[in-house]
Amino acid sequence: MYCYDNAFGLKSNPTPKQAKNFARYNIIIHIKTSLRNAMCSVKKKVLIKTYGCQMNERDTEALKVLLMEAGFTITEKEGDEDVVLLNTCSVREAAELKALGKAGRLLRKKKTHADYKVGVMGCMAAHKKELLFKKLPGLDFIAPPKALHLIPELIQQSYARHANQVAVPEPTFLNFSCYERTYSKHKAVARIPIQQGCNMACSYCIVPKTRGEQQNRPFNSILKEVKEAAQWGTKEIILLGQIVNTYHDPDSRKNFIDLLEAVQNVEAIKRIRFISPHPAFFSSQLMQAFKILPKLCPSLHLPIQSGSDRILKAMRRAYTKAKILEIVKTLRTIDMRASISTDIIVGYPGESEEDFQETVALFKDIKFDMAYIFKYSPRPLTWVAPQEQSLMKIPEKVKEDRNQYLLSILTQCSTEYNRQFMGKYQEVLIEGKAHRGEHKLFGKNIYNKKVILTGPESWINTFKHVQIGKVTASTLEEKVVEDGGTL
Ligand code: SAH
Ligand code: SF4
Ligand code: F3S
Repeated sequence: MYCYDNAFGLKSNPTPKQAKNFARYNIIIHIKTSLRNAMCSVKKKVLIKTYGCQMNERDTEALKVLLMEAGFTITEKEGDEDVVLLNTCSVREAAELKALGKAGRLLRKKKTHADYKVGVMGCMAAHKKELLFKKLPGLDFIAPPKALHLIPELIQQSYARHANQVAVPEPTFLNFSCYERTYSKHKAVARIPIQQGCNMACSYCIVPKTRGEQQNRPFNSILKEVKEAAQWGTKEIILLGQIVNTYHDPDSRKNFIDLLEAVQNVEAIKRIRFISPHPAFFSSQLMQAFKILPKLCPSLHLPIQSGSDRILKAMRRAYTKAKILEIVKTLRTIDMRASISTDIIVGYPGESEEDFQETVALFKDIKFDMAYIFKYSPRPLTWVAPQEQSLMKIPEKVKEDRNQYLLSILTQCSTEYNRQFMGKYQEVLIEGKAHRGEHKLFGKNIYNKKVILTGPESWINTFKHVQIGKVTASTLEEKVVEDGGTL
């Protein structure tokens, strides 16, 4: 196996300070120069398949910019590519199996295309590391999330040296400057990473192992990206991170509230959201921000995981049902219609029927209008993994039943929530073409509800007043569209 950093003489064990400076300022320059020299001879087409969360989606966008700057072409059409990258997720076993299956099928193309390259990036590259070369014979390279900025060079090296099985050792820090250049210009909504990794060690979760310790992005780097997006016409910002409400600037005392205020002050930005906050770190100032900052939308994703205090404790979530109820009550006092969505895990080891019924009761009480409901998936390297044998394992059938039961409650709650918009005018920021229907577009109201309407593509990235004529559990549909927004 060929080790990337030695080939370039990069330090393997720099001090944290050296590594920080190195990651922030030097690597990109080094890569840009060497790539410009090297890329003259090849102009390969790269396809990126993305799995997992919005962080991965955003990483894919950032990588596309880096690849184009390095002289590669991006293709969205499968079959057209010379290089395929799978940006993977490890949060549940099913996500890994899906990507492994896809990689296996793609690798078959090597039989007829000798020059075809397949790489695995993202969380599974950090989790499985070199084991992936055993699982996927013929795999060319792997790159963990913090090595995002090294990928163009990695592909280049793979061609130049006719090397496969190339692994990038994980840099200590992510280079946040990767995100400062916009890929999709004139987009209505921009997702802006404000931190990387997580220090929380929730008992079931592999993310701290795949993305590493929490690393906060410098305040000015975030604002630079926000302003750049605003210049390209973006109207809505979604701040991304694993525990956004613990954000603080590494170089000053500025915190998440300061960040929300700074984004609020960017004139061209009309809407702000964030994902995901941790219930344990919800301060009264953050609640007040929903009142004080007019651009902060009354739509909150609050991942509660369970409604049973016993299970929350076992999960090491550091809050109780009472805290969740307090957050919800405060937000609904500020805006009685506030949309509240969540993540829930069913079938955590030891979850009794009583525990589950507490989750059901809390779900009905809060009436979440959107929820991601997951069946617990045992993950290696997690805090609970070594103890699983001694805990009551929940049979798959029970997990499935609990999942379906909560989904049925969700359908009732979300349909009921959406009904309140019947006949009402909603200000909709139009994001793009709808998946189905000719001349159909989709957008969101301030409550993060998807609205389907008919109109020309020129309406994308504009505000329209839409009277709602039909509602389902997941969408609102137009009756009448009027021009312009109030903002
Ligand atoms: N940082 C976010 C969540 C990131 S992971 C937070 O704390 O809310 C996204 C979601 O995946 C989690 O909210 C959780 O519901 C789910 N998840 C994580 N590990 C899981 C596992 N082992 N099995 C099933 N679902 C899991
Ligand atoms: Fe995982 Fe918990 Fe961190 Fe979220 S806060 S990423 S669930 S460890
Ligand atoms: Fe998955 Fe990694 Fe996101 S494990 S959920 S892609 S942070």
